[in-house]
Amino acid sequence: MAKIVLGVTSSVSIYKACEVLRGFQKAGHEVQVILTPNAAKLVSPLLFNSLSGRRTIVELFDEDHPWSIAHVALAKEAALLVVAPATANIIAKFAAGVADDFLSTFYLAADAPVLIAPAMNEAMVLHPQTRDNMNRLRRRGVEFVEPAKGYLACGDEGWGRLAEPEVIVRRGLELLRRSLSLDGRTVLVSAGPTREYLDPVRFLSNRSSGKMGYEMAREALARGAKVVLVSGPTHEVPPARAELVPAETAADMKKELLKRFPKSDIVVMAAAVADFSFPGQSGRKIKKQALSGDLKIAPTPDILKALGERKKGQFLVGFAAETDDLEANAVKKIKAKRLDLIVANDVSGPGIGFDADENQALLIDAGGRVRGTPKMSKRELSRVIWDVIEASLGQRS
Ligand SMILES: Cc1cc2nc3c(=O)[nH]c(=O)nc-3n(C[C@H](O)[C@H](O)[C@H](O)COP(=O)(O)O)c2cc1C
Repeated sequence: MAKIVLGVTSSVSIYKACEVLRGFQKAGHEVQVILTPNAAKLVSPLLFNSLSGRRTIVELFDEDHPWSIAHVALAKEAALLVVAPATANIIAKFAAGVADDFLSTFYLAADAPVLIAPAMNEAMVLHPQTRDNMNRLRRRGVEFVEPAKGYLACGDEGWGRLAEPEVIVRRGLELLRRSLSLDGRTVLVSAGPTREYLDPVRFLSNRSSGKMGYEMAREALARGAKVVLVSGPTHEVPPARAELVPAETAADMKKELLKRFPKSDIVVMAAAVADFSFPGQSGRKIKKQALSGDLKIAPTPDILKALGERKKGQFLVGFAAETDDLEANAVKKIKAKRLDLIVANDVSGPGIGFDADENQALLIDAGGRVRGTPKMSKRELSRVIWDVIEASLGQRS
């Protein structure tokens, strides 16, 4: 039994929220309802009290419980947040991070998966501002049950009708299952670039931002895995529940990954390890005049190959960033490094790949099956990659 938080906002389709509540209860879960103060003007919280068997939360500043910070306490217990029906207003507030009532404050405090079922009239749902807000939330990993076309409570026909309660419940239960799908597994992720020093101030590196690896780590955490994130220097905020292991150079990264490899179940090598380093790195800053035109470089250790050679049942995922012959190069890499899956992305296009928020990839497994993805946020892509990893693991067992 999980604790599901059902956020209910002030749409005319509010009556359908009762069916959503019942659906989750029938599936054996406990439901805590939060009504926005505007929703409580449309229906009495008493209705939801009696259906849920719990006191419905409406006010952020509750005189009956002045000592407890309920949104924080509830955030720790919630396994899923479902907002149904969701007004244009609550979607805009979530997208902007406004926290001026219990539901929007809870949204920021909670780490659980979020499912939103919008309901509004067609003009509101098709308004570019609403589409923008929804896309912003999607890029952050929030999922939607799209509103349907049909008779709207305002009397119009069109888009914006709340999806049927059973569709919302089914999707919610899927998210709940997914939030535990990697429970008990240890996932090792590498991310970001490495720096290969010439002297204490100069180094060779690359444009990797670490975003893809950080999103892979975030999604693994969202699916219940224990995550160790070995990271090169990045400006990204690490996921709070991951064990963060900083590694600056290729040699550091190799050492940290090999140490943790035997205890890992799934290893995702998203780091862009620099290919070359400077042998005989100087401990002191080299004077400009002393730097010759031909600097000596040597290849860095091939970490992915080393991991492939030591594989004992681990599922090994590599990334390939290419500007030419994407698929052919990725297939070569999968064989040479004994990978189970490779995520190949073209880094020549604008707005995708290195240092971008979006990516488009080819996923190729060891059996040669190729799946292409459309351009999507790195967060959404991480979900596609984890779905493929889980499907492959399912076939293994
Ligand atoms: C009877 C009534 C029905 C409404 N239905 C909707 C609706 O279906 N979708 C929507 O986005 N807003 C609807 N609104 C407007 C919202 O209630 C309004 O934007 C409100 O500020 C949203 O507050 P909340 O998001 O905190 O619940 C409705 C308003 C009224 C008075």
